[in-house]
Amino acid sequence: MKRLAIFVSGGGTNLQRIAEYFTPNPEVDLACVVSNNKDAYANQRAKNLGIPLLLVDKEYFNGDQFIARMKSLDIDLIVLAGFLWLIPQGLIDAFPNKIINIHPALLPKYGGKGFYGHHVHEAVVAAHEKESGITIHYVNEHYDSGNIIFQKKVALTDTDTPDDVAAKIHVLEQENFPVVIEKLLFDKK
Ligand code: GAR
Repeated sequence: MKRLAIFVSGGGTNLQRIAEYFTPNPEVDLACVVSNNKDAYANQRAKNLGIPLLLVDKEYFNGDQFIARMKSLDIDLIVLAGFLWLIPQGLIDAFPNKIINIHPALLPKYGGKGFYGHHVHEAVVAAHEKESGITIHYVNEHYDSGNIIFQKKVALTDTDTPDDVAAKIHVLEQENFPVVIEKLLFDKK
């Protein structure tokens, strides 16, 4: 049995997709959703999906008790799905190469502190980029700079608005994120 923890801060569309993708697979258990935002719609999704929800504040999240909690759940992979806090070094050390993030751009472009969600798509459009995409990467102690696992591009047009780019990125995330997670869980590297 492979056990996933999904960390969220926002709408939770990736959480929803990952949960639905793995529902038919008895080898994968979504052991918990960790949220740092009491108002996130992702929290409601977790409840609807029947996944235990752990709401964290900064002090608890950055402390040893949180690491112990994740260890006690026997988590194989921590998945950041729209989670917006930096991951503390202690958690990275406790789960080496077992924490991944999805970023809605082609890193190393449009990454780092402040580049999340819609801010990314606005910057991409302002720079008249001809393409954007998604990056799935290992998490280190800096924002958006761990080793890249997977990227997928999509073409943009001159008339694409940030909302249009967001819609294209959403499709890429829905198609690819669960598949990459499955590969990481079952293809031993
Ligand atoms: C996703 O597009 C994800 O790539 C992005 O936030 C969105 C979360 O959507 N993550 C970042 O910007 C991280 N820097 P969701 O809550 O609906 O899954």
